[in-house]
Amino acid sequence: MNYFDSIERIANVSEFHALVPAAGFGARMGHEIPKQYLPLAGQPMIFHALTTLCACTEISTVFVVLSPEDTQFQKYDLSRFGDKLQPLYCGGETRAESVANGLLAAELEPDDWVMVHDAARPCLTLAHLDRLINELRDDAVGGLLAVPVADTLKRADAAGRVQRTESREQLWQAQTPQMFRAGLLAHALQQCKNVTDDASAIEALGFKPKLVACEPTNFKVTYPQDRVLAELLLSHASSVAK
Ligand code: C5P
Repeated sequence: MNYFDSIERIANVSEFHALVPAAGFGARMGHEIPKQYLPLAGQPMIFHALTTLCACTEISTVFVVLSPEDTQFQKYDLSRFGDKLQPLYCGGETRAESVANGLLAAELEPDDWVMVHDAARPCLTLAHLDRLINELRDDAVGGLLAVPVADTLKRADAAGRVQRTESREQLWQAQTPQMFRAGLLAHALQQCKNVTDDASAIEALGFKPKLVACEPTNFKVTYPQDRVLAELLLSHASSVAK
């Protein structure tokens, strides 16, 4: 390998990609259609996160992992996302399986960075992404956006009464995107399938992902009232941008 080849190889190892698992149904929302397609501020919920991820100049490709039975996604006009957006119809039974299948299908270089982001977090901003990338691009492990726990935490007993108060010191709520090297994350998810986020699989290998402080506005739409809050935040953001 000559000098220029090796410079190019080093420059190439740091490609950034996004992967959006969107093969779930979201039963807690209580609707007939999967939650990522529920209308939110004039568009399907998933479009908000996809718009932000596609607008991030550092990100080369935005993979969306859909259920093999999904017939909805292709019905939308996807032209606004351009070539950056790549749907993959390989979602699994769980979020972890959908991410693992997506990583396999995306065929990324092991050293590429991948930012896994839930379709149900529509209030992600470019500033959040910048913070994540800048804090982690030179990190050996990777990490995730998160917020320090603000409320007092109670552990319940089976009868729904307070068993005890838990300390909230050094407790954080994990958000997404979670950013890891594609090879390490794929390996971690093969080893550890029973996890609710990507960082947990990396932790199970003995690594310590970095917590990157974000804002509570990057919350996951889980219950019907979350949708109302997300609408308010997105309408506020668009009126500020005008
Ligand atoms: O259900 P929950 O809100 O935890 O899902 C988080 C994300 O994982 C959502 O974007 C959902 O579509 C996705 N998911 C998936 N495959 C599954 C279950 C959830 O891609 N089998």
